Amino acid sequence: MPNLYTKAYEQSINDPDCFWGKIAQDCHWYKKWDKVLDDSNKPFYRWFTGGEVNTCYNAVDLHVDNGMGEQDAIIYDSPVTDTIQKYTYLQLKDQVAKFAGILASKGVGKGDRVIIYMPMIPQAVFAMLACARIGAVHSVVFGGFAANELATRINDAKPKVIVSASCGIEIKKVIQYKPLLDQAIELSDYKPDACIIFQRPQAKASMIGGRDFDWEEAMTTAFPHDCVPVKATDPLYILYTSGTTGQPKGVVRDNGGHMVALKWTMGAIYGVDKGDVYWAASDIGWVVGHSYIVYGPLLKGCTTIIFEGKPVGTPDASVFWRIISQHKVKTLFTAPTAFRAIKREDSKAQLMEKFDLSCFNYLFLAGERLDPDTLFWAQNALNVPVIDHWWQTETGWAIAANCVGLHQFDIKPGSPTKPVPGWKMTVLGDDGNPIIAGEIGAIVAKLPLPPGTLPTLWQNDQRYVDSYLKAFPGYYETSDAGFIDEDGYVFVMARTDDIINVAGHRLSTGGMEEVIAEHPDVAECAVMGVEDQLKGQIPLGMMVLNAGVIRDHAEVVKEVIALVRNKIGPVAAFKTAIVVKRLPKTRSGKILRGTMRSIADKKRYKVPATIDDYSILDEIEESLGKIGYGSKG
Ligand code: COA
Ligand code: AMP
Repeated sequence: MPNLYTKAYEQSINDPDCFWGKIAQDCHWYKKWDKVLDDSNKPFYRWFTGGEVNTCYNAVDLHVDNGMGEQDAIIYDSPVTDTIQKYTYLQLKDQVAKFAGILASKGVGKGDRVIIYMPMIPQAVFAMLACARIGAVHSVVFGGFAANELATRINDAKPKVIVSASCGIEIKKVIQYKPLLDQAIELSDYKPDACIIFQRPQAKASMIGGRDFDWEEAMTTAFPHDCVPVKATDPLYILYTSGTTGQPKGVVRDNGGHMVALKWTMGAIYGVDKGDVYWAASDIGWVVGHSYIVYGPLLKGCTTIIFEGKPVGTPDASVFWRIISQHKVKTLFTAPTAFRAIKREDSKAQLMEKFDLSCFNYLFLAGERLDPDTLFWAQNALNVPVIDHWWQTETGWAIAANCVGLHQFDIKPGSPTKPVPGWKMTVLGDDGNPIIAGEIGAIVAKLPLPPGTLPTLWQNDQRYVDSYLKAFPGYYETSDAGFIDEDGYVFVMARTDDIINVAGHRLSTGGMEEVIAEHPDVAECAVMGVEDQLKGQIPLGMMVLNAGVIRDHAEVVKEVIALVRNKIGPVAAFKTAIVVKRLPKTRSGKILRGTMRSIADKKRYKVPATIDDYSILDEIEESLGKIGYGSKG
């Protein structure tokens, strides 16, 4: 007999209208859709056209209306400020409605953009939901990005209002956000009408009269704003993610499809129900934070945890276990890096022993490849299923997973198991033809993508088509390479572009190269992701200096590192660079980044037949050896 997964999967592919139409009935609609899947403007597929909804109503008010007002919606657990604060659904509604009133009083309405540049505090979530409440489009920018990156996003999104806080806290360091925000607004051509600043006791932001408003002060006189019906196809948010250049891609998410898909994934993929405590230990600046700190758990009526801390150092490697047992977490979702950090500090998981983890059912990991060592360690330590799942900012939810709410498959280490219902996955060769099971190629998804995925890039339909749909007509190109085995298990091996994954954070090496090339002494450069025991990958830069530069190379390296930190942000974790005489290239001038990466990672590599000068490889190996990389390291 087919299991629930097989039945759901087949129906989702053979009759998507019926599959998603039925699931959509689990949400509240002001007006029912005319069409479930609208394919009248291919390749721009839309879901639930004609329907009217409000995502905030479904995530907050609906639960209050259904008698769940006294249930905790949010638990804010901040070891860095020694705070635990809970908000019921009723209290959440109150905060969100009032903040929506403030936004409306600043002229923000349907379709207007609001940038949110905030640390992991409940006010960040209130601001996101308040935007959804009045039909405004939020764009959350991760706190670890520098002013320049924020400015790029301000120019692209053109927000009427920016919401921020005086500071973030990184373990013990207080990071002042307001000077970064002021600098970003100065750098950007577009200027917002107003900024609303949440003052934290750890740092007081200086305010600019007429432009900046104090969050708390505004809340004391705010009028609550009700939910506004929006079209299912109207944008809910823009989330910028690294592309292959310094210009990030503005991934758009709509209201209807996103709400339907995310609510369904909570049960089908993560095996949770309303009332359960669900914890995604990530940041609201990333897609994981959008989908599984904010929208997914709240749409489902779970209690979500906002964690302002790190897996280690706040105060130690037991913080995850403390939070699971104290708040009765059923499902935890984080990146493998977090577990590598814990394992490094407490390899025998002894710190776990004093906590009662009997409430805990599943650990889900994503964001980067799950290495077997980390998988086995987590399995042994926790004694619960450890589930790898694969997805991207663009997709908004998992492409491949072990959907424990439908059917729990045996896992295969190195594989995020099988395509989730809605995803028809294929592996194509360079010629665009499907290749046999087990062979590596480009992993692609047959169009149309399921609801909740990106309908386009913000005001850039052409870049959407060029980036994702052009290489393999009829398919969405994931830019991940891998294979599908004979049992239908997906294996994701590597990116096919210049994106690297540093501690589960997606970064563009092309973007870093653009910044390094701005240094007056640099003639050319290459940045590649090399293996790192903790962060999975870290960027390594190689630079050729201009002829005639006689300064100390170490000085130039220092300046280049500072430049990347100032322009992109500390999150780039760009800390290693070397000066080389030349970069190895093919005769046609293509830099051999892959070959250099193999040398740094001490991997065997095939010397390309087209290389212009073989002796460069020895020089590179020598230089890398001096900083501890490569076989001479
Ligand atoms: N605001 C300001 N700065 C930030 C920041 C934020 N929100 N987040 C990170 N940074 C800074 C850090 O302070 C650090 O700065 P430093 O160079 O001065 O030390 C730098 O950016 C790199 O941060 P991070 O990648 O977090 O590395 P780390 O060494 O501080 O911590 C881990 C390592 C493994 C503990 C950490 O990466 C982690 O918790 N990873 C979990 C994975 C995760 O959440 N992934 C998200 C997708 S699921
Ligand atoms: P992001 O858009 O930041 O979520 O990054 C998406 C990229 O992270 C994917 O394209 C993959 O390269 C990588 N990734 C995410 N999850 C996994 C996983 N489970 N296994 C391997 N790679 C992953």
